[in-house]
Amino acid sequence: MRKTKSEVRSQRSEVRSPEGGATGGQRIAVYPGSFDPLTLGHLDVVKRAVHLFDKVIVGVASRQEKHPLFSWQERVRLAKEVVKGMDGVTVQGFDCLLVEFARQQHAQAIIRGMRAVMDFDYEFQMALTNRKLAPTVETIFFVPSERYFYLSSSLVRELAAKGGELSCFVPDPVVKALRRKLAR
Ligand code: COA
Repeated sequence: MRKTKSEVRSQRSEVRSPEGGATGGQRIAVYPGSFDPLTLGHLDVVKRAVHLFDKVIVGVASRQEKHPLFSWQERVRLAKEVVKGMDGVTVQGFDCLLVEFARQQHAQAIIRGMRAVMDFDYEFQMALTNRKLAPTVETIFFVPSERYFYLSSSLVRELAAKGGELSCFVPDPVVKALRRKLAR
Protein backbone atom coordinates (compact mmCIF):
# COMPACT_ATOMS: atom_id res chain seq x y z
CA MET A 1 0.00 0.00 0.00
CA ARG A 2 1.25 3.50 -0.87
CA LYS A 3 2.57 5.51 2.11
CA THR A 4 1.21 8.98 2.81
CA LYS A 5 3.65 11.92 2.75
CA SER A 6 3.61 12.21 6.54
CA GLU A 7 4.37 8.49 6.92
CA VAL A 8 7.35 8.89 4.61
CA ARG A 9 8.49 12.00 6.54
CA SER A 10 8.26 10.28 9.93
CA GLN A 11 10.13 7.26 8.60
CA ARG A 12 12.90 9.55 7.29
CA SER A 13 13.15 11.33 10.64
CA GLU A 14 14.20 8.01 12.18
CA VAL A 15 17.44 8.02 10.20
CA ARG A 16 20.35 8.04 12.66
CA SER A 17 23.98 9.02 12.40
CA PRO A 18 26.62 6.37 13.28
CA GLU A 19 26.63 7.62 16.92
CA GLY A 20 22.88 7.09 17.04
CA GLY A 21 22.12 10.81 16.84
CA ALA A 22 19.40 12.11 14.58
CA THR A 23 20.54 13.51 11.24
CA GLY A 24 17.40 15.54 10.65
CA GLY A 25 16.06 12.68 8.56
CA GLN A 26 18.88 12.99 6.07
CA ARG A 27 20.68 10.07 4.49
CA ILE A 28 24.31 11.11 4.29
CA ALA A 29 27.21 9.43 2.50
CA VAL A 30 30.87 10.27 2.12
CA TYR A 31 32.69 9.46 -1.11
CA PRO A 32 36.43 9.39 -0.32
CA GLY A 33 39.40 9.31 -2.65
CA SER A 34 42.56 11.08 -3.71
CA PHE A 35 40.88 12.57 -6.78
CA ASP A 36 44.24 13.39 -8.40
CA PRO A 37 42.40 14.44 -10.49
CA LEU A 38 38.67 13.77 -10.33
CA THR A 39 37.59 11.93 -13.51
CA LEU A 40 34.29 11.40 -15.32
CA GLY A 41 34.31 7.94 -13.70
CA HIS A 42 34.28 9.51 -10.23
CA LEU A 43 31.57 11.93 -11.33
CA ASP A 44 29.49 9.02 -12.62
CA VAL A 45 29.61 7.46 -9.12
CA VAL A 46 28.59 10.78 -7.51
CA LYS A 47 25.60 11.09 -9.87
CA ARG A 48 24.45 7.56 -9.04
CA ALA A 49 24.85 8.18 -5.31
CA VAL A 50 22.73 11.36 -5.19
CA HIS A 51 19.72 9.29 -6.25
CA LEU A 52 19.99 7.30 -3.01
CA PHE A 53 21.32 9.86 -0.52
CA ASP A 54 20.12 13.31 0.48
CA LYS A 55 23.70 14.47 0.91
CA VAL A 56 26.86 13.17 -0.74
CA ILE A 57 30.11 14.59 0.62
CA VAL A 58 33.08 14.09 -1.69
CA GLY A 59 35.98 13.61 0.72
CA VAL A 60 39.33 14.58 -0.77
CA ALA A 61 42.07 12.77 1.15
CA SER A 62 45.38 14.59 1.56
CA ARG A 63 47.40 11.45 0.59
CA GLN A 64 50.78 13.21 0.58
CA GLU A 65 52.44 9.75 0.56
CA LYS A 66 51.11 9.27 -3.00
CA HIS A 67 53.05 12.40 -4.12
CA PRO A 68 50.02 13.75 -5.94
CA LEU A 69 50.31 15.90 -9.06
CA PHE A 70 47.80 18.38 -7.64
CA SER A 71 48.19 19.72 -4.12
CA TRP A 72 45.50 18.87 -1.59
CA GLN A 73 44.07 22.41 -1.83
CA GLU A 74 44.05 22.23 -5.64
CA ARG A 75 42.22 18.88 -5.61
CA VAL A 76 39.60 20.22 -3.20
CA ARG A 77 39.16 23.39 -5.27
CA LEU A 78 38.84 21.43 -8.52
CA ALA A 79 36.32 18.97 -7.08
CA LYS A 80 34.24 21.92 -5.80
CA GLU A 81 34.29 23.51 -9.24
CA VAL A 82 33.19 20.23 -10.88
CA VAL A 83 30.22 19.55 -8.56
CA LYS A 84 29.11 23.21 -8.41
CA GLY A 85 25.34 23.34 -8.93
CA MET A 86 24.78 19.64 -8.20
CA ASP A 87 21.99 19.41 -5.65
CA GLY A 88 23.01 17.62 -2.44
CA VAL A 89 26.72 17.33 -3.32
CA THR A 90 29.48 19.06 -1.34
CA VAL A 91 33.25 18.69 -1.11
CA GLN A 92 35.46 18.51 2.01
CA GLY A 93 39.16 17.81 2.44
CA PHE A 94 40.18 15.32 5.14
CA ASP A 95 43.45 14.24 6.69
CA CYS A 96 42.32 11.73 9.31
CA LEU A 97 41.02 8.17 9.31
CA LEU A 98 38.16 7.73 6.85
CA VAL A 99 35.81 6.42 9.55
CA GLU A 100 36.62 9.50 11.64
CA PHE A 101 35.75 11.74 8.68
CA ALA A 102 32.51 9.79 8.17
CA ARG A 103 31.61 10.31 11.83
CA GLN A 104 32.39 14.04 11.69
CA GLN A 105 30.03 14.34 8.72
CA HIS A 106 27.33 12.22 10.46
CA ALA A 107 27.42 9.87 7.47
CA GLN A 108 25.74 6.46 7.59
CA ALA A 109 27.63 5.24 4.54
CA ILE A 110 30.96 5.26 2.73
CA ILE A 111 30.66 5.10 -1.04
CA ARG A 112 33.22 3.50 -3.30
CA GLY A 113 33.24 2.73 -7.00
CA MET A 114 33.87 -0.87 -8.09
CA ARG A 115 35.21 -0.80 -11.61
CA ALA A 116 36.36 -4.36 -12.18
CA VAL A 117 37.62 -7.48 -10.42
CA MET A 118 41.00 -5.78 -9.97
CA ASP A 119 39.41 -3.34 -7.49
CA PHE A 120 37.89 -6.11 -5.38
CA ASP A 121 40.75 -7.21 -3.05
CA TYR A 122 41.72 -3.69 -2.06
CA GLU A 123 38.12 -2.54 -1.64
CA PHE A 124 37.16 -5.64 0.34
CA GLN A 125 40.11 -5.17 2.71
CA MET A 126 39.29 -1.49 3.19
CA ALA A 127 35.56 -2.10 3.72
CA LEU A 128 36.19 -4.80 6.34
CA THR A 129 38.80 -2.72 8.17
CA ASN A 130 36.48 0.27 8.23
CA ARG A 131 33.62 -1.93 9.48
CA LYS A 132 35.82 -3.16 12.33
CA LEU A 133 36.62 0.44 13.26
CA ALA A 134 33.06 1.75 12.80
CA PRO A 135 30.49 -1.08 12.70
CA THR A 136 27.53 1.22 12.04
CA VAL A 137 28.99 2.85 8.95
CA GLU A 138 28.18 0.78 5.86
CA THR A 139 30.39 0.68 2.78
CA ILE A 140 28.32 0.75 -0.39
CA PHE A 141 29.75 0.02 -3.83
CA PHE A 142 28.54 1.59 -7.02
CA VAL A 143 29.36 0.14 -10.41
CA PRO A 144 30.28 3.01 -12.71
CA SER A 145 29.22 3.11 -16.33
CA GLU A 146 31.17 0.60 -18.43
CA ARG A 147 32.46 3.62 -20.39
CA TYR A 148 34.72 4.36 -17.41
CA PHE A 149 35.70 0.84 -16.31
CA TYR A 150 39.30 1.19 -17.46
CA LEU A 151 39.70 4.80 -16.33
CA SER A 152 42.01 5.89 -13.51
CA SER A 153 43.60 9.14 -12.41
CA SER A 154 47.10 7.92 -13.25
CA LEU A 155 45.98 7.08 -16.79
CA VAL A 156 44.64 10.62 -17.09
CA ARG A 157 47.88 12.10 -15.72
CA GLU A 158 49.89 10.09 -18.22
CA LEU A 159 47.67 11.14 -21.13
CA ALA A 160 47.95 14.76 -20.07
CA ALA A 161 51.73 14.57 -19.80
CA LYS A 162 51.95 13.21 -23.34
CA GLY A 163 49.52 15.78 -24.76
CA GLY A 164 46.64 13.31 -25.34
CA GLU A 165 42.95 14.21 -25.73
CA LEU A 166 41.39 14.56 -22.26
CA SER A 167 37.82 15.77 -22.64
CA CYS A 168 36.29 12.29 -22.87
CA PHE A 169 37.92 11.31 -19.54
CA VAL A 170 37.71 14.33 -17.24
CA PRO A 171 35.34 17.27 -16.73
CA ASP A 172 36.19 20.63 -18.34
CA PRO A 173 37.69 22.37 -15.29
CA VAL A 174 40.04 19.39 -14.86
CA VAL A 175 41.13 19.51 -18.52
CA LYS A 176 42.04 23.18 -18.05
CA ALA A 177 43.82 22.58 -14.73
CA LEU A 178 45.87 19.72 -16.21
CA ARG A 179 46.90 21.85 -19.19
CA ARG A 180 47.89 24.73 -16.89
CA LYS A 181 49.79 22.46 -14.51
CA LEU A 182 51.74 20.63 -17.22
CA ALA A 183 52.53 23.77 -19.22
CA ARG A 184 54.70 25.01 -16.33
N1 COA B 1 36.59 6.19 -11.94
C1 COA B 1 37.85 6.43 -12.28
N2 COA B 1 38.89 6.13 -11.49
C2 COA B 1 38.62 5.59 -10.30
C3 COA B 1 37.31 5.31 -9.87
C4 COA B 1 36.27 5.64 -10.75
N3 COA B 1 34.99 5.41 -10.45
N4 COA B 1 37.38 4.75 -8.66
C5 COA B 1 38.67 4.68 -8.33
N5 COA B 1 39.43 5.18 -9.32
C6 COA B 1 40.89 5.22 -9.40
C7 COA B 1 41.46 6.49 -8.87
O1 COA B 1 41.50 7.47 -9.88
C8 COA B 1 42.84 6.05 -8.46
O2 COA B 1 43.68 6.02 -9.56
P1 COA B 1 45.26 6.14 -9.45
O3 COA B 1 45.73 5.17 -8.41
O4 COA B 1 45.67 5.83 -10.80
O5 COA B 1 45.56 7.56 -9.03
C9 COA B 1 42.62 4.62 -7.99
O6 COA B 1 41.43 4.21 -8.60
C10 COA B 1 42.40 4.48 -6.52
O7 COA B 1 42.16 5.74 -6.00
P2 COA B 1 41.02 6.21 -5.00
O8 COA B 1 39.73 5.60 -5.25
O9 COA B 1 41.05 7.69 -5.01
O10 COA B 1 41.52 5.59 -3.75
P3 COA B 1 42.81 5.95 -3.06
O11 COA B 1 43.52 4.66 -2.92
O12 COA B 1 43.57 7.06 -3.64
O13 COA B 1 42.18 6.50 -1.74
C11 COA B 1 41.26 6.37 0.45
C12 COA B 1 41.76 5.65 -0.79
C13 COA B 1 41.56 7.85 0.46
C14 COA B 1 39.76 6.18 0.49
C15 COA B 1 41.95 5.64 1.62
O14 COA B 1 43.33 5.71 1.44
C16 COA B 1 41.58 6.23 2.95
O15 COA B 1 40.52 5.98 3.44
N6 COA B 1 42.47 7.04 3.54
C17 COA B 1 42.26 7.66 4.84
C18 COA B 1 43.06 6.96 5.91
C19 COA B 1 42.37 5.70 6.35
O16 COA B 1 41.31 5.69 6.91
N7 COA B 1 43.03 4.57 6.07
C20 COA B 1 42.51 3.27 6.42
C21 COA B 1 41.61 2.77 5.34
S1 COA B 1 41.03 1.14 5.73
